[in-house]
Amino acid sequence: MLADKDRIFTNIYGFQDWRLAGALARGQWNGTKAIIEKGHDWIINEIKNSGLRGRGGAGFPTGLKWSFMPKADPRPSYLVVNADESEPGSCKDREIMRHDPHHLIEGCLIAAFAMRARTCFIYVRGEFIREREHLQAAVDEAYAAKLIGKNNVHGWDLDIVVHHGAGAYICGEETALLESLEGKKGQPRLKPPFPANSGLYGSPTTVNNVESIAVVPEILRRGATWFAGLGKPNNTGTKLFQISGHVERPCVVEEEMGIPLRELLEKHAGGVRGGWGNLLTVIPGGSSMPCISEADCQTLTMDFDALSKLKSGLGTAAVIVMDKSTDIIKAFARIAYFYKHESCGQCTPCREGVAWQWRILERMAKGQAEKREIDLLFDVTKQIEGHTICAFGEGAVWPVQGFLRNFRNVIEERIDQRIASETRQAAE
Ligand SMILES: Cc1cc2nc3c(=O)[nH]c(=O)nc-3n(C[C@H](O)[C@H](O)[C@H](O)COP(=O)(O)O)c2cc1C
Ligand code: SF4
Repeated sequence: MLADKDRIFTNIYGFQDWRLAGALARGQWNGTKAIIEKGHDWIINEIKNSGLRGRGGAGFPTGLKWSFMPKADPRPSYLVVNADESEPGSCKDREIMRHDPHHLIEGCLIAAFAMRARTCFIYVRGEFIREREHLQAAVDEAYAAKLIGKNNVHGWDLDIVVHHGAGAYICGEETALLESLEGKKGQPRLKPPFPANSGLYGSPTTVNNVESIAVVPEILRRGATWFAGLGKPNNTGTKLFQISGHVERPCVVEEEMGIPLRELLEKHAGGVRGGWGNLLTVIPGGSSMPCISEADCQTLTMDFDALSKLKSGLGTAAVIVMDKSTDIIKAFARIAYFYKHESCGQCTPCREGVAWQWRILERMAKGQAEKREIDLLFDVTKQIEGHTICAFGEGAVWPVQGFLRNFRNVIEERIDQRIASETRQAAE
């Protein structure tokens, strides 16, 4: 269990003052100038050495991503912070923005400096009203105290613009986010070119998740070795886990990467409703990650590598717990509906296929499918995966694939029940 001394987010529950005075009392903005004076390359190397992997879902190494930004380019460089947080189950970035926004603002200054950016945009999910208000107030405070802006006390001019989205899940995908920020329809771009070469307004851009940026100042204050010493090799540091569903006390909690699932649920969320034996399945990283069988949950540790070995992923570490009372087919039909609703419609396999998988799951939930359609459905998911412009395609089919791998017997039983009931009715 993470020791209190190793916690980065000491006001994640909002018990203390979220404004600048509170942030300063908690040690934020402490020694920021000295960090910046160590130089662009030192910061990038230190972040590389810390082992920090992006907290937005894919787990790409943050320091490495920053090193892709050009060192001398006539075009302006941009840092864009992804605060869209729309993945069902995810609710950590909002806690940072409304309860401890200066972590993020200080992180923006340091990350922007490391990548030689003079402007940073924070793209906030459309539904986040209080979060945006707190974040904007904190940005205003930082300008007034000359912590950011022109001629600030840190010696690196930086403007931070808080941009409020309109509430589309796809705008969390980094290139759709950039399109939306430019005032266009939020639809993903083909890659390459990647944003580091041609991003916002065609200029070098790095897009990072809120949590990825918010942990940077503490990593640099305490040292890469401290962060790398927490968690497991290749899965270092602390992480905000978000636990929802059938647990006694749903919560957001900062823990060490690699914590066993059972310990996470029992120490922080009061355990599975009805006891550990009542667990049916867990979605470990937000709705687009495949669910984990009850057997694998027994020994599962919560980190990128352990979950990818199980053909799933840590994603955003949004843990959705389902107990044995769940109608698992209905649950996955509902998830499929979400993806059908949110597809941007550019690619045929995604637009048509995701709607198709939702319709068949709805029929399966009522037992009104044929058994041969189980394999057909799996085949359709494979026709979508890898055949689309953006990773939404994978995010939409992975939950269905995980469901089919683990709960095929439930679908078959429901079809058998429907056939038995029809046979009975015909005989009466
Ligand atoms: C459909 C879709 C939705 C996404 N939504 C988010 C999101 O809400 N927040 C986020 O940080 N990343 C989201 N991502 C991932 C981003 O594209 C990008 O990888 C991430 O912001 C990079 O930040 P990181 O390297 O700090 O993790 C999404 C990706 C896809 C394909
Ligand atoms: S995969 Fe889906 S969401 Fe992504 S670009 Fe294609 S249609 Fe749009």
